[in-house]
Amino acid sequence: MEQQKKKILCVGLVCLDIISVVDKYPEEDTDRRCLSQRWQRGGNASNSCTVLSLLGASCAFMGSLSAGPVADFIMADFARRAVDVSAVVWQVHGQTPCACCVVCQSNGSRTVVLSDTNLPDVTAQDFSRVDLRQFKWIHWEGRNAEEQVKMIQQVVEFNSSLPQQQRITISVEIEKTREKLYQLFPHGDVVRDDVFVSKDVARHFGFQSAEAALRGLYSRVKQGAVLICAWAEDGADALGPDGLVVHSDAFPPEALVDTLGAGDTFNAAVIYALSNGGRLQDALTFGCRVAGRKCGFHGYDDIGKYFTND
Ligand code: ADP
Ligand code: FRU
Repeated sequence: MEQQKKKILCVGLVCLDIISVVDKYPEEDTDRRCLSQRWQRGGNASNSCTVLSLLGASCAFMGSLSAGPVADFIMADFARRAVDVSAVVWQVHGQTPCACCVVCQSNGSRTVVLSDTNLPDVTAQDFSRVDLRQFKWIHWEGRNAEEQVKMIQQVVEFNSSLPQQQRITISVEIEKTREKLYQLFPHGDVVRDDVFVSKDVARHFGFQSAEAALRGLYSRVKQGAVLICAWAEDGADALGPDGLVVHSDAFPPEALVDTLGAGDTFNAAVIYALSNGGRLQDALTFGCRVAGRKCGFHGYDDIGKYFTND
């Protein structure tokens, strides 16, 4: 298959987001009405698939689900966005994760309480059943890192027999401040790898800006990799093997309405641009433009209106 026509696979969480939109964040132990409420398919990898699809990329999702009404809702929504779900793993035990989200539309803040307790994650063995020939890029949302490292090794092995231009690009997102996830920093081997590190992780390591985080954490990634760090209203920075930090300012919307999934949107837009051969600076700017615009409306649907065929 021609490389450009291949899909982007995102591996990680899918959950149900029950979103209550409020005008003011509620005080503890009070009882109020919200402005509106909706169900939305959530989870970082799942949200990134939504955005990739809205931008016009062919994409696939791999993660766990447990059969039932919540999974039915999620599957219908994947179908609506034409996300390939053939790699989804149906678990026999456990519940599909669900998050209660409060989005405050006067400042865009999102507060999430996630229940993700007993559904097993996909394993390296599950991953070994996937036909890798259909993908040009595979992105992992850091979760069960030990297994994910084994999955990445399978891709490295797959790549080793292929010429450079037919290889799968690997990217990982290290968002949560969990020690186990940090083993994902150095990974892969020959391909160009991208590592997305969050502001939370950067701060956890004691860095107060994206640039400081990139310089401080770069030694943890494999030689040749690109490290990317988004920093909310300060935009995002990236550092590649040439040692030059590139930066994009944020593109704030007229009004901040809903920042839920801004980071997932940013990751998807950067991957979209890089997978189409874009330069790092352009990909970073595109990521900030799409993510900034997204913060100005509820959900993701309007991304299609503003950015398709960008
Ligand atoms: P998350 O907390 O969802 O992981 P981040 O805070 O890392 O997201 O932001 C990701 C990107 O979204 C930023 O690089 C920026 O481009 C955009 N963004 C997020 N918050 C804002 C904001 N308040 N104003 C403008 N852009 C924003
Ligand atoms: C947004 C999100 C939500 C989900 C939560 C899980 O980035 O993926 O969709 O509820 O984070 O942490």
